[in-house]
Amino acid sequence: MNHQYHSIYRAHTNIALIKYWGKRDQELYLPMTSSLSLTLESLYTDTKVLFSPNLKNDTFTLNYQKQSQEETKKIIRFVDLFRKESGIHLPVSIESINHVPTAAGLASSASAFAALSAAINDALQLNFSSEKLSTFSRQGSGSSTRSLFGGLAMWHRGYGHHSDSSYAEEIDSADWDIGMLIVVINSQQKKISSRIGMQHTIESSPFYELWPREVEQDLDQMLQAIKQRDIDAMGRIAEHNAMKMHATMLAANPSFNYFEPKTLVAINKVQQMRDQGLSCYYTMDAGPNVKILCPFSQIEQIKKILMEDFNEDQLIISLPGRAPYSIDSLGQPLETR
Ligand code: DP6
Repeated sequence: MNHQYHSIYRAHTNIALIKYWGKRDQELYLPMTSSLSLTLESLYTDTKVLFSPNLKNDTFTLNYQKQSQEETKKIIRFVDLFRKESGIHLPVSIESINHVPTAAGLASSASAFAALSAAINDALQLNFSSEKLSTFSRQGSGSSTRSLFGGLAMWHRGYGHHSDSSYAEEIDSADWDIGMLIVVINSQQKKISSRIGMQHTIESSPFYELWPREVEQDLDQMLQAIKQRDIDAMGRIAEHNAMKMHATMLAANPSFNYFEPKTLVAINKVQQMRDQGLSCYYTMDAGPNVKILCPFSQIEQIKKILMEDFNEDQLIISLPGRAPYSIDSLGQPLETR
């Protein structure tokens, strides 16, 4: 009778090459557009869930710190989606460790909700496919849908208010010469969350109406470039897409932006390196950090040049990451499960 359900999962974060910026349904987290990303090996979240009748109440710890009631409530509202589905209404303990600077625009909510979804799916034996699971994780954070897959993943816009129509899937395993270098400009909490930022943009930026059409065109071209493994075309499209997203924010009223002086230093450096013949392209999310897409075979050379302006500990190198997997309490993968 005293049955407990538990599981530990690791999920990697992802960086969008075609950005998600805006919801058409705020309840269901249905996006205005589709988006596409690269999952990263170096940045991830480990999450342990335990559903047990022996627990007094729901708890949530992040990086060994018990989270506030408000933070816990947000997560529990998410867990309730799975409770409803499984019929298992036991109290839960959630322990997460983020191997990502939290809320630094490194999409930590992506790996966090992907790890939580995958752990609950396993613990409660729901056996959802990753595509189906992404329609749940989406309701925690949109970008987490893509972290349920390795390599290059696409999150489909879907149609109307149909939750099941907006899911993610892997489109390429990215097991070729591709990598990403992250320039950590500032690892502090970001000033305006993406959730708030995108809503404010929809409501007040006259440029926003251009965004869905631009994304559609960029996506078509990106899918072509991926098929051809043309990293230069991919980089050009990603860079332009990111800057168009930031332009919608600059035109919001009041205007806001995530640029810091060092962000521009990194961007200029990427342009210079490109002039010198290196294949590198930048993208940026809801934070000042710069992410550089490049062939993995050039990444050490690119890092060396960036060390003229940045400290080594600000430069994180990554290969493409894999889909979430279960781990033991020491963080070792449990391949057999
Ligand atoms: C700029 O997924 O963090 O990183 O769905 O409200 O949780 P919510 O937003 P979130 O937004 C990510 C925005 C972005 C672009 C992207 O990852 O596609």
